[in-house]
Amino acid sequence: MIREVLKMGDPFLLQQARPVERFDTPELQALLADMRDTMAHLNGAGLAAPQIGVGLQVVIFGVARNPRYPDVEEVPDTVLINPQLSPLSDELEEDWEGCLSVPGLRGMVPRYVRLRYQGYDEKGQRIDRSVDGFHARVVQHECDHLAGILYPMRIRDFSKFGFIQALFPGEEVLDE
Ligand code: NI
Repeated sequence: MIREVLKMGDPFLLQQARPVERFDTPELQALLADMRDTMAHLNGAGLAAPQIGVGLQVVIFGVARNPRYPDVEEVPDTVLINPQLSPLSDELEEDWEGCLSVPGLRGMVPRYVRLRYQGYDEKGQRIDRSVDGFHARVVQHECDHLAGILYPMRIRDFSKFGFIQALFPGEEVLDE
């Protein structure tokens, strides 16, 4: 079922999410089905459970290769539960981000270039990956939602924050 996505300003988005304690349950599968439906409906690259009003440490993300956007790197479809992130170097990189909770806007956000993420999938199987670039950026963005952090809170240069249509006139910009 497609769920309403909470918008920036809703205090629920500022809360800490709780860890999932039981895996492979009907409740968890139902939550993930709703998250997938909602993300697909809005053409998102990722979604965190708190964005649909569920305060659990669950995120999904994934970006398919799209010939219309050849510069966008592919990210495998992933369910990540109770994540832990560890940067693999101090190196940061700035790039544009959007968020389904901040519709119509983009901002330039610094993120770690390389990181390791660990957690569980919906069956409770361990996930342990070391990634970089756009994949690493998406993971950091989604996991920030679990700590009550929205990307505008990480922007350093507010001259690079604004409405998509004003920032990129005439360009087709990937949703989310
Ligand atoms: Ni977001």
